[in-house]
Amino acid sequence: MKMLQDHVVLVTGGGSGLGRGVARYCAQQGASLAIVDNAPEKVSALRQEFGAGVLALQGDVTRVADLQACRSAIQQRFGRLDALIGAQGIFDGNVALLDTPPDRIDALFDEIFHVNVKGYLHSVRMFADLLQQSGGAIVLTTSTAAYAADGGGSAYTASKGAIRSLVGQLAFELAPRVRVNGVAPAAIGNSQLRGPETLGLRERKQSDIPRDAFLELFRSVSLLQDLPVAEDYGPLYAFLASRSNKVMTGQTLVADQGLLNRRVLSAPAS
Ligand SMILES: NC(=O)c1ccc[n+]([C@@H]2O[C@H](COP(=O)([O-])OP(=O)(O)OC[C@H]3O[C@@H](n4cnc5c(N)ncnc54)[C@H](O)[C@@H]3O)[C@@H](O)[C@H]2O)c1
Repeated sequence: MKMLQDHVVLVTGGGSGLGRGVARYCAQQGASLAIVDNAPEKVSALRQEFGAGVLALQGDVTRVADLQACRSAIQQRFGRLDALIGAQGIFDGNVALLDTPPDRIDALFDEIFHVNVKGYLHSVRMFADLLQQSGGAIVLTTSTAAYAADGGGSAYTASKGAIRSLVGQLAFELAPRVRVNGVAPAAIGNSQLRGPETLGLRERKQSDIPRDAFLELFRSVSLLQDLPVAEDYGPLYAFLASRSNKVMTGQTLVADQGLLNRRVLSAPAS
């Protein structure tokens, strides 16, 4: 039997990158899927890829009205929800605090935390009762930035640290009916993570970095040398979203490719 057979799974921020790859994996594992994303062109692409069997919805997870519409559509189509996988996020462009104009800090903080933290609070609040009814699961996306420096600038890093803490608090608040866990990815080869509008970096994507240069950087700091794509994280999310997980709540799986145990004292091999 497939791991997500008889599971209704919602992926928020599933229009590209991590969420889309995880959604693909969940579909392969037999899940009935709903995917929400705020980018209309990505929602059209989802409909093309998955067809009518998957509920692909345009919506902004920071807007209660959009989440309410998503909830109604899920109830109408599936009548239940077994797992919420949160994958939306935006980046801060890796801009250091001292390079951030003082008069942009308020707006930068609000922009990043609005999506990266408040979006998860709103999503969990909107679907928690359905998950309590089904004895379901929540999986939120943090980052290795929450564990080690230089995975982003201060605003992004703080937002990912907040999600890491939120996982524990929500596990506590929603126990015993709902299991809440996190995944902290390091690199995602097919990401479209965008920068902040506040610093004029909305159009700058992580994927703009030339692949060879990114691969070289990745290999210089990671123990594992294959740059993962979003789908590679699928099994972790699928397991945490499934009823197979009877033993974990309040934890974050650090999927770091060995980044946090990188070389510190040893000389690089010549
Ligand atoms: N790219 C990486 O290397 C990396 C590493 C660690 C963690 N992450 C995290 O993984 C998650 C996914 O990022 P990604 O790299 O796949 O980027 P991505 O941009 O490809 O995917 C994020 C998706 O979220 C959507 N989104 C953004 N704001 C939204 C909103 N308000 N409502 C609904 N949808 C919204 C975007 O349209 C996009 O489709 C993020 O939380 C990111 O912080 C990424």
